[in-house]
Amino acid sequence: MSERILIMGGGVIGLSCALELARRGRRVTVLEANRCGGQASGAAAGMLAPFSENTDGPDAFFQLCLRSLRLYPEWQAEVKRLSGLDFEYTNSGSLYVAYHEADMLALQGRLLWQRQYGSTGRIVEGDELFKLEPLLSRNALAALHTPEESHLYAPDYVRALEQACRNAGVDIAERLGKVTVAERGNGISLRAADGRRFEGDRLLVCSGAWAGELSETFGIRIPVYPIRGQICAYEADRAPTGARLVEHMVFCSQGYVVAKENNTLVCGASEDVAGFDSTVTEKGIERLRKWNKRLFPFLESREPFHRWAGLRPSTQDGFPLIGPLEGDERVIFAAGHYRNGILLSPVTAKLAADCAEGKRLEPLYEAFSPDRFGRRASVHFS
Ligand code: FAD
Ligand code: GLY
Repeated sequence: MSERILIMGGGVIGLSCALELARRGRRVTVLEANRCGGQASGAAAGMLAPFSENTDGPDAFFQLCLRSLRLYPEWQAEVKRLSGLDFEYTNSGSLYVAYHEADMLALQGRLLWQRQYGSTGRIVEGDELFKLEPLLSRNALAALHTPEESHLYAPDYVRALEQACRNAGVDIAERLGKVTVAERGNGISLRAADGRRFEGDRLLVCSGAWAGELSETFGIRIPVYPIRGQICAYEADRAPTGARLVEHMVFCSQGYVVAKENNTLVCGASEDVAGFDSTVTEKGIERLRKWNKRLFPFLESREPFHRWAGLRPSTQDGFPLIGPLEGDERVIFAAGHYRNGILLSPVTAKLAADCAEGKRLEPLYEAFSPDRFGRRASVHFS
């Protein structure tokens, strides 16, 4: 009998890893505290935007994001095929807007290095900019247009992933409460809140913002913290021609606006330090509304019809944890994807599955080693 792989967490990362492993013929069980996709993954705006979201330079994280973007056309088609479910996946391209002359230098600098990584981006201004995005504020001076970027409808994508997993033979157990590591001996034994045990040969830790809770279990520092993202959506009718009110993903230094196929305009998102509190606050949404109107004046007279929030799994250095645990390679981490977990789901699934097959990751990925923050003092099992 082939080995069984246990996956802790049924968000986009756990489900993507499960699907990739099942496609490779592995036996997989996903163990989820509540409902699959019920945390950060179901709350996401679904942008696949490495050029617009990672603007510092071509570090290992940017390169990881870019690889994942390039896996997407095939990956999303496979998720649709295996699930029998459809979800929006739109190659809208993006505009990163500058309002002031002083912001132009940053856009130009970014464009220079991004071109070396395959971007066909350009800076667009004046009539050209307003032709691309007719309802954009006339206060916008220019924008970096990146045609390569896409977005999807995250709740539907996660639903399709879950269905694809089930169809591919993955066992999914939900509503288990917090699952803990009961034993790491010959095999690995996990315990649900009601005492039920699940036995396996390997463990993938995909528990998002909660991954830090395993620090004591594995004797390493796991500085993963929740950063709340508040986000809202407006109803967005279409022009008689069928054109959307907003055609691109539109970013500015304060956030983003993205129009979905279901005629909604998703506007995000705050970055709040609020522990594990995922409630929406009046202040948080008011702040979003303020700059939404600056970007698109037609929003002045509209109220968001939907407001929600999710907990992004942030890490101390901003990089995710992907790879095996030093000293016990049966334990593999795939957590801490912060603002880019939807984008990173295909590449993470591939890397985690490679690790589960005992393959060495290429040196670029050492930057994501789960052990990089050092050890902590005591290890015990409860
Ligand atoms: P989660 O989705 O949080 O899943 C972790 C799961 O593990 C949860 O279901 C939880 O219940 C379960 N769990 C935790 N502990 C245990 C345990 N002990 N036992 C059992 N189960 C456990 N990313 C993008 O790429 N593009 C975007 O446009 C984007 N927009 C975003 C907008 C917002 C407002 C937010 C909040 C996030 C956004 N993100 C975006 C980030 C993205 O949502 C996250 O990076 C991603 O969802 C992380 O996935 P995950 O599976 O690691 O975590
Ligand atoms: N990636 C968008 C967000 O995290 O809000």
